[in-house]
Amino acid sequence: MPMSAPTMRRPRTLLVGGGGREHAIGSALSRSEAPLFVAAPQVNPGLKALAEDYLVVPVEDRTRIARWAQERSIELAVLGPEAAIAAGVADELRAAKVPTVGPSAAAGRIETSKSFARELMERHHIPGRPRFRTVTSAGAAREAIQAMEGPFVVKASGLAQGKGVWVQGSDFESAEEGAALIEKLLPPAGKEKAVVVEERLDGEEFSLLAFVDGSSVHPMPLVQDYKRALEGNRGPNTGGMGSYSERDHLLPFVTRSDHESAVEIMRGVVGALRAEQMEYRGVLYGGFMLTAQGPQVLEFNARFGDPEALNVLTLFDGTDFADLLFQVAAGRIDASHVSFRRRATVCKYVVPKGYPSDPKKGAQLNLDRRAIQDLGVTVYFGSVTAGPQRNSVLTGTSRAVALVGEASARKEAEARVEQALAHIEGTFDVRHDIGTAGDVNARVEHMMHILGTAPFDPVKNPTRSGPAPPPIFT
Ligand code: AMP
Ligand code: GLY
Repeated sequence: MPMSAPTMRRPRTLLVGGGGREHAIGSALSRSEAPLFVAAPQVNPGLKALAEDYLVVPVEDRTRIARWAQERSIELAVLGPEAAIAAGVADELRAAKVPTVGPSAAAGRIETSKSFARELMERHHIPGRPRFRTVTSAGAAREAIQAMEGPFVVKASGLAQGKGVWVQGSDFESAEEGAALIEKLLPPAGKEKAVVVEERLDGEEFSLLAFVDGSSVHPMPLVQDYKRALEGNRGPNTGGMGSYSERDHLLPFVTRSDHESAVEIMRGVVGALRAEQMEYRGVLYGGFMLTAQGPQVLEFNARFGDPEALNVLTLFDGTDFADLLFQVAAGRIDASHVSFRRRATVCKYVVPKGYPSDPKKGAQLNLDRRAIQDLGVTVYFGSVTAGPQRNSVLTGTSRAVALVGEASARKEAEARVEQALAHIEGTFDVRHDIGTAGDVNARVEHMMHILGTAPFDPVKNPTRSGPAPPPIFT
């Protein structure tokens, strides 16, 4: 057991959600010895082993969750999934006087409504915005496509779990096809839902997660998520097949100045929400595209990312994660509590065959937990249920088991995850190229190509000073 400082808080903590992200949050909370109470739609065997009590409930059921929190004398609540945020679980918990990590439903629109997010940035002149239009009719859609003057992206405005986005050149080809796609998405007349049409950004993506206490923004290490289902970044978008982070907490193609621009954009958004009386307390996740003009916002999420949380929380340094989350909820973060080991991580998700379109549910996976642990690899359970034997699980319909390797260099972390995979028996899919030199170098080269050919735009991004430094070829 770690030495406990006299000031260390051990709040009775409610964690809402039952996937891999929540298993990582729950593991970090139990390292700080906070008694854990889980409310989730299914029993996650990893969380079950950590929890004092477990309520099986839809994460949207704000009334039952808040009542349970009161019955269990909960002192801190942490919301994992966006569905809980969208349903106003944070509002209900705060009304019941439970300090909560997670924004109100109103502030959560930064994730749940793509048009709200874009318009908020526009109102407050926050940089990093691609050109966009919100459309509600076929005519407006055609005008918007013309106004983009080039490749564009179509987004259903609302929660779509990464599946509501179509990119020209990958998911459809001609502008005509794009227009037809929008027409299919538009709701019947009179309904309010809109479709966002925006300029396609070219570059490399990165995820920046930060703890936010209403006014200050405390970044976690940068992470790169692999969204496409198949190796070589092909196939449909998924929730994320895996991810990596680097020892220096940047990425091989992201400079310190790019990082600073991205953090500034997040500060701008937190300030804008505050100015509009929607104080944001929770984790804010910026999904960025690094372009020739610097970081541009693809989307915001109002929560930890999955798999990004698995990388960063594995690295969380110190024994007082619960204390830090308490500070987030209370509206005052002490920066000295935000500390991550200077190590690299690689995360690979084992997923059911056929994921995401036709996942094979109920497949048995047998894990040799001891052998995996001996490799320095952490196991997080996602969408699985306990299997018939000890150390066996059955797949659900989403990402099943994540393996996170940590080492002083990404290469070593990646190799450990590959070795650990040999200790999982069963039928599954996994992307072996996540975090490999081949994939990461291709991203660096792509970025250098973009920086070399596109002009630097001092108006759109005054902080970008030049191309990335020489990449780390490991
Ligand atoms: P989102 O849910 O908005 O993050 O979109 C999911 C994925 O679609 C992103 O991770 C990108 O790969 C891609 N995407 C979204 N918006 C754009 C854009 N404006 N330009 C290029 N790709 C995009
Ligand atoms: N990794 C993407 C997400 O959590 O939304």
